[in-house]
Amino acid sequence: MKIIFTKDYDQMSKMAARYIAGLIRLHPESTLGLATGSSPIGTYKELVKQYEDENLDFSRVTSFNLDEYVGIDENHPQSYKAFMNQHLFNLVNIDKDKVFVPNGSAEDLEKECARYEKAIEDFGGIDLQILGIGRNGHIGFNEPNFKFEARTHVVNLEEQTIEDNSRFFENREDVPTQAISVGMKTILQARRVIVIASGIEKAEAVRQMVSGEIIPGLPASILQLHPDTTLIVDEAASSLLEERGKIHV
Ligand code: GLP
Repeated sequence: MKIIFTKDYDQMSKMAARYIAGLIRLHPESTLGLATGSSPIGTYKELVKQYEDENLDFSRVTSFNLDEYVGIDENHPQSYKAFMNQHLFNLVNIDKDKVFVPNGSAEDLEKECARYEKAIEDFGGIDLQILGIGRNGHIGFNEPNFKFEARTHVVNLEEQTIEDNSRFFENREDVPTQAISVGMKTILQARRVIVIASGIEKAEAVRQMVSGEIIPGLPASILQLHPDTTLIVDEAASSLLEERGKIHV
């Protein structure tokens, strides 16, 4: 795993955006795997800036989001579809026909998972997967101790994840307890992966991801086996890494 050490959230976001923009410029027809959460907001902001100021062209890009809550409509302000529209899709020239987010309000969720997985396959897989990391080491909504060989599936969210996500909802009872998530196997098949992590609350998960045992209990640890993963961390999130300080930007 390559590690890029940055100072703070802003610098982390700029580095991540530079990486993604570089790929889009080199390969305009890239398929991106996109994440939600507070980690990538700054990255998306930088990408929008590059679209506005430096002609970064999204028109041939395809995107697949990692996950979506079950039981809330895509028009709900806290749906991940709404998040992506707000932070990226509505602000750049991406073709909305090539934007994919799992449908968490599908009548048959199993069928929806299979449809989504097939769509990723039909587009030739993911060229670059962007990931945040949960405090318990989850990626997408792949919670600890679920099988590494999973494809897109329905997830029961852990208490800690529900708690972490409750900051976005008015009432805790409104936080969805289930989600659809692209599985670990599909994530691992992405040609390149970047993980972005910021803040002290991520430091322990980052440490275990980089140098802990590779175990389903810490889903992100399997990225140690991925041939092209780059971790972009800020000072706080990297504070427990021994490698810290070796490659600073
Ligand atoms: C949610 C998302 C993940 C995200 C994680 C961390 O669980 N499903 O994709 O990585 O939150 O979120 P944040 O970046 O806000 O810390």
